[in-house]
Amino acid sequence: MSANQSIIDIIRGQFPDQEFIPLHEPVFGGREKEYLGECIDSIFVSSVGKYVDRLEEVFVGYTGAHFAVATVNGTAALHTALMLAGVTPGEAVITQALTFIATANAISYCGAAPVFLDVEKKQPALSPRALLKFLESQCEVQNDGTCRDRRTGQRIAACVPVHVFGHPADLGEILAVCDHFGVPVVEDAAESIGSWYGARHTGTLGRLGIVSFNGNKAITTGGGGMVLTDSEELGHRAKHITTTAKVPHRWDYSHDQVGYNYRMPNINAALGCAQMENLDDILAAKRNLAADYRDEMAVAGADFMDEPDGCRSNFWLNAIILANREQRDAFLQASNDQGVMTRPLWGLPVDMPMYRNARCDDLTHTRWLFERVVNIPSSARL
Ligand SMILES: Cc1ncc(COP(=O)(O)O)c(C=O)c1O
Repeated sequence: MSANQSIIDIIRGQFPDQEFIPLHEPVFGGREKEYLGECIDSIFVSSVGKYVDRLEEVFVGYTGAHFAVATVNGTAALHTALMLAGVTPGEAVITQALTFIATANAISYCGAAPVFLDVEKKQPALSPRALLKFLESQCEVQNDGTCRDRRTGQRIAACVPVHVFGHPADLGEILAVCDHFGVPVVEDAAESIGSWYGARHTGTLGRLGIVSFNGNKAITTGGGGMVLTDSEELGHRAKHITTTAKVPHRWDYSHDQVGYNYRMPNINAALGCAQMENLDDILAAKRNLAADYRDEMAVAGADFMDEPDGCRSNFWLNAIILANREQRDAFLQASNDQGVMTRPLWGLPVDMPMYRNARCDDLTHTRWLFERVVNIPSSARL
C-alpha cells in the first residue's frame, strides 16, 4: 500500500462512520438551543443583552485575563487590539510570514505596514532568533525610546506572534526580545482557545491578545472574537471603541471619537456561553485524536506536527509534514478524491498582490513548511 493510502486509512479509522470527513466541524452537544431560545424569547438578539456580559465574564474566568471584550469577529478584535497598542498610520508592525491573511489585514486597517519574519524550523511560530536578528541588524532604539526601522524610518509599533494551529509560540523569548527593544506584543491567539504557554493561557501574556470564535475554530459563536488584556485602561477603551465610542447616557446619542461597530451580538454570545460549557470536553476529545494521530503516524512513517515543549496545544488543526511539494500535492489529491478533506497551508500574505512589496527578511523555514504541511481532519467527536 502507498504511504499516502496508509495516512488516509489512519484518518478514516478515526472517523469510521463518515463518508465525507470535513477538516473541522463545530460540536453542539450542550445547551446551545436552550440559550439561543432564551435569547430570542428575550427579544435582545443584538448588541445589548446578558449573554455578551456573561461570555466576557466566563472568558475572564477561563483565561485569567483581567479584561475580555467580545467583538464581531477575530479580525475586528485584532484591529482593535493593535489600535490600543498604539499602532498608527505610517508605522510598521512585525508579524510572521506564515499566518492567515487576517493578521496582515488587521495591521493594514491601522494604516500600518506589516513586516514579515520567519518562523521556527518545523514549527509554525514566529522565530525569536529571526526577530532578534531583524531588530538588531535593521532597527535602532532612539533616545525617546522608540524602535525604528533604519531603512524606512518607520516606528516598529508592535509585534504580533500567531499561535498557528493552536501551538503556542515561544512567548518567553519573544517577550524578552520585544521588551528589550520597547516593542509591545499583541498575540494573535485566534486559533488557540484552550492552548497554554506554561500556566498562562495564550493571548494573555502580551499587552493585548485576541481570539476568534469563527465556525471553524475549537468552539464557535457563529462569528465572533474577543480582545484580552490585563490593563484596566485598555479593557475599558476596548469596550468603548468597539461600541461606536458612545458616551454612556440614558437617552443621548453622543460619541467622543471615531468608534467601530465591532460589538458581538447577544445571539452569538448566547451560542458562545453554551460552547464554553463544553470546552473542556471538546479539548479532551481533540487531545485524544492528536494522541492517536501521533502514534499512528509514527508507525506509518509520517511526520506529525506536535505541541512545543512546555506548552499545551488545543490541537485545533492537526498537521503532518510531508517530504516535499510533490508529495504534498499527491497527498492532497488522493485524500480529497476519497472524501477526506485535507488542506495545504494558507497562501502566504507575502505572495498576495497587496503584500508582495512588504518588508520581509529571510523566510527559509516559512517556505519550507509552506511546501510540505497538510492539515488533516481534526473535529472533536464527543
Ligand atoms: C491566525 C488568525 N488570525 C485572525 C483570524 C481572524 O479571525 P476571524 O475569522 O474571526 O475574523 C483567523 C481566523 O479566522 C486566524 O486564523
